[in-house]
Amino acid sequence: MAGGRAGDVGQDLSVTQIVVATAIMRNGQVLAQQRAYPSADAGRWEFPGGRVEPGESEEAAVVRECREELGVEVEAGPSVGPDVPLRNGMVLRLYTATLVDDNAEPVAVEHSAVRWVGIEEFDDLPWLEADLAFLPDLRKLFG
Ligand code: C5P
Repeated sequence: MAGGRAGDVGQDLSVTQIVVATAIMRNGQVLAQQRAYPSADAGRWEFPGGRVEPGESEEAAVVRECREELGVEVEAGPSVGPDVPLRNGMVLRLYTATLVDDNAEPVAVEHSAVRWVGIEEFDDLPWLEADLAFLPDLRKLFG
């Protein structure tokens, strides 16, 4: 809008774009999903998540992304691990979460595959570079 001041909604380009990632935990395992695209990332594993939308809380983004990507309802818990810088100034932040229905099985809606991973298997997966940064803190959580 003409004459917009700093602080006007949607005009403040200095606000960091947060991308949430989600560590859904169940029975000592955490859910990972395998990317289908873009081609540079295809076949690599990540924690479910995506960009927080304007006006949305990070916890709400966790719930929405898990619903969209996995077809399950989760409850967001505390965040864990570092803020990981991504390209374009975005920051990746990991939240723990649990399934609302413990018996629900996440499905790969947009991805190639999903799987439950125990800490002893962490090193077996080719993770996305950014997601690798969360593994030490997750190990401590499970340890
Ligand atoms: O999924 P979306 O395109 O909204 O994610 C934004 C960026 O965050 C992408 O570059 C994606 O590769 C990255 N990302 C990531 N690790 C995740 C989720 C997203 O590096 N667990």
